[in-house]
Amino acid sequence: MTGMSPIASSLLRIHKIISRALDVSMQKCDEYLGKQGIPPEEATGFPLYVTTLKWITHSHHLTEDDIAFPYFRDKLEAPYARLEEDHQVMARILVDLDTCLSKISSGGVGRLREVLGEFDRVWGPHIRIEEDHFTADRLKAVAGLREQERLLSQITEHGSKNSGPLPLALPFLFYNLEDTDREAFMMAFPWFIKQVFVPIIWRGYWKPMSPFLLV
Ligand SMILES: [Fe+2]
Ligand SMILES: [Fe+2]
Repeated sequence: MTGMSPIASSLLRIHKIISRALDVSMQKCDEYLGKQGIPPEEATGFPLYVTTLKWITHSHHLTEDDIAFPYFRDKLEAPYARLEEDHQVMARILVDLDTCLSKISSGGVGRLREVLGEFDRVWGPHIRIEEDHFTADRLKAVAGLREQERLLSQITEHGSKNSGPLPLALPFLFYNLEDTDREAFMMAFPWFIKQVFVPIIWRGYWKPMSPFLLV
């Protein structure tokens, strides 16, 4: 039960977003490799989607390195050094992702698939360690509800500074989540973001990514 732990709920949600986007990106690469290329209707959206995955992962890791881990280090036992080391390994993989994306139109899908596979091999075990250590019960034992809410707003603010352009980042976050998680996640955003900016004003920016999103 994570309901009374805003930090645990938010950790699980961001992990779901990144895990889904990583799975979709790998599946799409396999599909493109089978078809000998990216179909024209996905050629703009796919690099945007993978680039946004890169930004969101980078931003999530920075919030852990800069805010969450320093806060919990003396309060809650976890293999912090291992987790930080994984972040560095993934940071190098994200740089490689960028290089692959720049070559994607000239037959670079195979290499992109390899790099996404490397990312996935570090990501899976990494989030299992985090989710086993930063559970709702363990978090509640060291930080009350108010304190977790305060910390979460710090994390959200820090995250939004490093997650790339908002017209891509927000739809990416919203629409890589299934219904219930999406509703819970969107509760924190003001109405004009949910009802005006994302669906109307910013639609033109993120629409090419829609074949990869739950929208
Ligand atoms: Fe992490
Ligand atoms: Fe994480």
